[in-house]
Amino acid sequence: MAAKKQQKQVESLKHKDKRRRERVRQDVAIRDLRAGDVEAIVAIAVAAWEPIYAHRRKVMGDALFERLYSDWRERKAAEVRSACARAAGADVCVAEDAGRVVGFITFTSDDVTQVAEIGNNAVHPAFQGGGIGTAMYRHVFAKLKERGMRYVQVTTGGDPAHAPARRAYEKAGFTIQLPSVTYYREL
Ligand SMILES: CC(C)(COP(=O)(O)OP(=O)(O)OC[C@H]1O[C@@H](n2cnc3c(N)ncnc32)[C@H](O)[C@@H]1OP(=O)(O)O)[C@@H](O)C(=O)NCCC(=O)NCCS
Repeated sequence: MAAKKQQKQVESLKHKDKRRRERVRQDVAIRDLRAGDVEAIVAIAVAAWEPIYAHRRKVMGDALFERLYSDWRERKAAEVRSACARAAGADVCVAEDAGRVVGFITFTSDDVTQVAEIGNNAVHPAFQGGGIGTAMYRHVFAKLKERGMRYVQVTTGGDPAHAPARRAYEKAGFTIQLPSVTYYREL
C-alpha cells in the first residue's frame, strides 16, 4: 500500500509542469563546483532525500528508524560538504538552470583499479524528470574518462523510493548489477 502511494507521488512529480521540464532540458548547464555552491547543494540533498527517508521510516518503524537515522539530515549534509572539500572541489559538479543551482553529483576516481565511483547525487525535487540527472552522469563520465578511468560504479537502494535513481542509472548505461538486501529483526 505504502509502495503504491509512493509510486503515485513519484508519478505525479514526474509529470508535473511539463512545460518547465522542456525548458530545463534546453537551458541546463553542468559545470564544476564553485565555493559559493556548497550550501545550495546541501539544501538540494536534504530535499531530495526526504521521500527516501520517509519511506525508510515506514518500512523500519519509528523505533528502529530513530536509532539509526534520527540525524540523517546532518549526516547527509556532512557527506556532501566533505565531498566538496575533497581535492579542492574537483570531485563535484553542479547543474545550473538560469543561474540557479538545481542539482549536484559527487564522484571519486581510483588510479590503481581505474574504477571510479559516483557518490551522492541529486536533482532538486521540483526539477526532477527533466533530463538533468542524465546530463550530469554524461558530463561526469567524460570527466572520468579524461582522468583515465575505465569503469564507473554506483550503489543505490532496491526499495520503491529509489526507483527514480535505478531508472536514471539504467538509462545512463549501468547494466552490470549486483543486488543486495539488508535485513533487520528485533531482539
Ligand atoms: C536520481 C535523480 C538524481 C535523477 O535525476 P533526474 O533529473 O530526475 O533524472 P532524469 O530526468 O535524467 O531521468 C532519468 C530517467 O529516470 C526517470 N525518472 C526520473 N524521475 C523519476 C520519477 N520520479 N519516477 C520515475 N522515473 C523517474 C526518467 O523518466 C528517466 O527515464 P526515461 O527517460 O526512461 O523516462 C533524481 O531522481 C533524484 O535526485 N532522486 C533523489 C535522490 C537520489 O535518489 N539520488 C541517487 C541516490 S543513489
